[in-house]
Amino acid sequence: MKVVYMSLTGQTRKFIKKLQADAIEISRLSEKFEMNEPYIMIVPTYDYQVTCIMDQFVDFGNNIQYLRGVCGSGNRNFNDLFCFSAKDLAKKYHVPLLHCFEFHGSDYDVDRIKDEVNKIG
Ligand SMILES: Cc1cc2nc3c(=O)[nH]c(=O)nc-3n(C[C@H](O)[C@H](O)[C@H](O)COP(=O)(O)O)c2cc1C
Repeated sequence: MKVVYMSLTGQTRKFIKKLQADAIEISRLSEKFEMNEPYIMIVPTYDYQVTCIMDQFVDFGNNIQYLRGVCGSGNRNFNDLFCFSAKDLAKKYHVPLLHCFEFHGSDYDVDRIKDEVNKIG
């Protein structure tokens, strides 16, 4: 399963390294990347103006067809807004919210996401 992510301050990128996943980093320059196999997304939490590049990525080509789930990276100090970007994306595209973690995550978070990906198959 491919992992598509974005990262502004490097936390999500650090998490991806721990996950040792086959991953693609999306930025304003690469939002038009077309997928041809199933993937999950890992999305840090910022205002919509920042994270909308992930929406643009999903809306590009047939990318929606291969999206299997969304994970979030955030900060619990934001309380009700913890990982709202990932939650909104999962709702919008009718896919499961697989897991949310803080910053670059822990070994527990790595295991949780691996388990979720295995369940999806
Ligand atoms: C300006 C700003 C706004 C943020 N807003 C939220 C938020 O609303 N909810 C949340 O859970 N985390 C929020 N965060 C925390 C980041 O999503 C979190 O640190 C994440 O791990 C950053 O990932 P990245 O380094 O890959 O970009 C915010 C961080 C910054 C700098």
